[in-house]
Amino acid sequence: MRLDKYLAQAGMGTRSEVKKLIRQGRVLFNETPADRPERKVTENDRVFVDGKQVVWEQYEYFMLNKPAGVVSATKDAKDRTVVDLIKCPHSRELFPVGRLDKDTEGLSLLTNDGALAHRLLSPGKHVEKTYFVRVTGVLTEQDILFFQNGIDIGDSTLTKPAVLSRIEKGQRAAATGETVCTELFITITEGRYHQIKRMFAAVGKKVLYLKRVSIGGLQLDQGLKPGEYRRLTEQEKADLCKGNF
Ligand code: URA
Repeated sequence: MRLDKYLAQAGMGTRSEVKKLIRQGRVLFNETPADRPERKVTENDRVFVDGKQVVWEQYEYFMLNKPAGVVSATKDAKDRTVVDLIKCPHSRELFPVGRLDKDTEGLSLLTNDGALAHRLLSPGKHVEKTYFVRVTGVLTEQDILFFQNGIDIGDSTLTKPAVLSRIEKGQRAAATGETVCTELFITITEGRYHQIKRMFAAVGKKVLYLKRVSIGGLQLDQGLKPGEYRRLTEQEKADLCKGNF
């Protein structure tokens, strides 16, 4: 790969910015100052910028706290997409792993690692996804049993068992005009279209707010405000890539 592309893809700036770094003599190619942006970098070469080694990695992984109003797609004619929110100019062909509805917030994983996405989305892997949800009304014991046993949401099969936890009854949702609502966490292992909204609709409840908080072992970083993102840590990447979910 060309040195300027290598540097740009490793996050050191746009192509023209990294060319400037080379001209300024701030880039070392092995032990000597780099002279040409078109110089080829092989896996045996070492590249430094301002004395710090720059490591190019084939795959990139970001966690985004998706805000409402943004669509889970790579491109959209009308709406901003989750990919539009990742501002690193070098980010390559990122796509979201799975889809959240436009009005859903929370953990969106963006990567260019197709094999990982395939493993996480594969129905046979039963990867757990946990959501915080606020719904209208109060959940009954019967409702909870329905979720445990699988619900008919109009598909050819019942949903797989879902686990409901930390159920807080009787909160007010003044802004929506609802007098009573319930907040809880729900963990599902599938990814059917509007699945959670349809599951609650089947027991007569409307979802007022939905936020994904984890995918497998990967937890949404509480420090990320809606619209903010960060790269996964080495540990998070290792856990995901090893299939620790
Ligand atoms: N279930 C839904 O209904 N919507 C989402 O965005 C995710 C799960």
